[in-house]
Amino acid sequence: MKVNFINDLKNDKGTLVFLCFKNKPLDKYLNNLNKKFNGYIDRAIKTSGMEYNNNSHVDLIIPPGTSSDRIILFGLDITKLISEYDFGKLGSYITSILNNKKIKDIKLVSADFNKNSSKEVNILYGMALNTYRFNKYFTDNRKKRNNYFKNLIFISKNSNHIKKLWNRYNAIKEGVFLTRNLVSEPANNLTPILLAKEAQKLKTFGLKINILDEKKLKKLKMGALLGVAQGSANKPFVVSLEWKGNPKSKDTEFSFVGKGVTFDTGGISIKPSNGMEEMKYDMGGSAVVLGLMKTLALSKVKANISAVIGLVENMPSATAQRPGDVVTSMSGKTIEVINTDAEGRLVLADAVWYAQKTFKPKNLVDLATLTGAIIVSIGQEKAGMFSNSDMLSDLLVKAGKEVGEPVWNMPIDNSYEKDISSDIADMKNVGSGRGAGSTAGAIFIKRFIDKVNWIHLDIAGVTWAKSDKPLIPKGGTGYGVRLLEQMVLQYINNN
Ligand code: BES
Ligand code: MN
Ligand code: ZN
Repeated sequence: MKVNFINDLKNDKGTLVFLCFKNKPLDKYLNNLNKKFNGYIDRAIKTSGMEYNNNSHVDLIIPPGTSSDRIILFGLDITKLISEYDFGKLGSYITSILNNKKIKDIKLVSADFNKNSSKEVNILYGMALNTYRFNKYFTDNRKKRNNYFKNLIFISKNSNHIKKLWNRYNAIKEGVFLTRNLVSEPANNLTPILLAKEAQKLKTFGLKINILDEKKLKKLKMGALLGVAQGSANKPFVVSLEWKGNPKSKDTEFSFVGKGVTFDTGGISIKPSNGMEEMKYDMGGSAVVLGLMKTLALSKVKANISAVIGLVENMPSATAQRPGDVVTSMSGKTIEVINTDAEGRLVLADAVWYAQKTFKPKNLVDLATLTGAIIVSIGQEKAGMFSNSDMLSDLLVKAGKEVGEPVWNMPIDNSYEKDISSDIADMKNVGSGRGAGSTAGAIFIKRFIDKVNWIHLDIAGVTWAKSDKPLIPKGGTGYGVRLLEQMVLQYINNN
């Protein structure tokens, strides 16, 4: 969706869309039309039954007295909209109405976008998010889920203000779309090297990219990550990305670390074949990290932020690691690999260690489609959050509520440490009993966290949508990009 901003409606050709606010006078253009045609607009609103409930509209085709093709009115009660997410959902609704009518271009007129509020811009954000489609593999046009709506001219006396805000939201949208594209891509076309190349492309946005190949990973002694990769013909990579938005400072405020298992068969502890195709999205954590870094760079966030993604494919083969193998991680700690399907934490063990040693961040957030157990615990509406810092986790809970990407605080106290103790190594890679599977994964990663504020987000439940949701067409969701961008901005404001 392309957006242009102007201050006044100079030309009424095409499709005019008006946002009409409850208990507020009509826009001046509509008001003139209404007067000229004996209350035509008032009568149309009444006759159509349009309500001011954010869920109702009236469509006037070839209205008299104007050269526009149609005028669509949306009835709004923005006093009912509280969070940015609420405004986004309204925008998404508008897009779905426009798409049902196969409308390509509109002029959106909003007299009442408030100068002091930054939330209304989320209407545009929601509109843009709902234009996303992943159609690249359909050769039959009739099978595509078409998006007709492409261009928007935004008309408001405050349009200069909204335009400035839009820079940020457009950057978020770009990041979310990148993440969705990567998550939806099948694993044959997104092997570790291909995902590393996708990361490399972000160089054009001013990010510094460093790609470590297998030889370098061996030199760094990333035995945990390499053990996972050794069963696949597709070689592993670790990629780091740096955004220097505050060149005066030497500090790295955040490092983001992503699990990038481009396909997870389970390895020798192989998964059942039913539903295994879903494991193409097991690189979701790294896709969020890339989308987020793109967003932060595009919006030129004024902080130094780095990222690390660990890219491997988990395959069973003659060279695959076996249950019972002991590997030595980059940190020097040894791990007994009880289950080769608990591979994400092995990848993260080395990736988070590398991020800390290389960037010495103040805060570290890792993202991973880590456990099926998180879906059993809290379903697919929220990500599971595990943290050693109340400051950071409080910030993320707040951000999650605001943007509609909620997180749920899960337990990770020391009482769970014994669950991963091994008889022959420093730890094992799964818990002992059947309980608290997601915490076992988190407590494992925690062993590689060294005095840094840390959040582990288990996004196994929220990375993929099996059906359409308000701002998300089914497929890769992009969950996490908007959330973490919001958290970073709030953090910068507070510090
Ligand atoms: N990638 C899976 C977790 C997953 C499951 C992601 C469903 C998305 C949807 C992970 O590598 C895995 O296999 N975890 C195991 C851990 C177990 C062996 C301790 C699981 O959840 O069963
Ligand atoms: Mn697995
Ligand atoms: Zn996995």
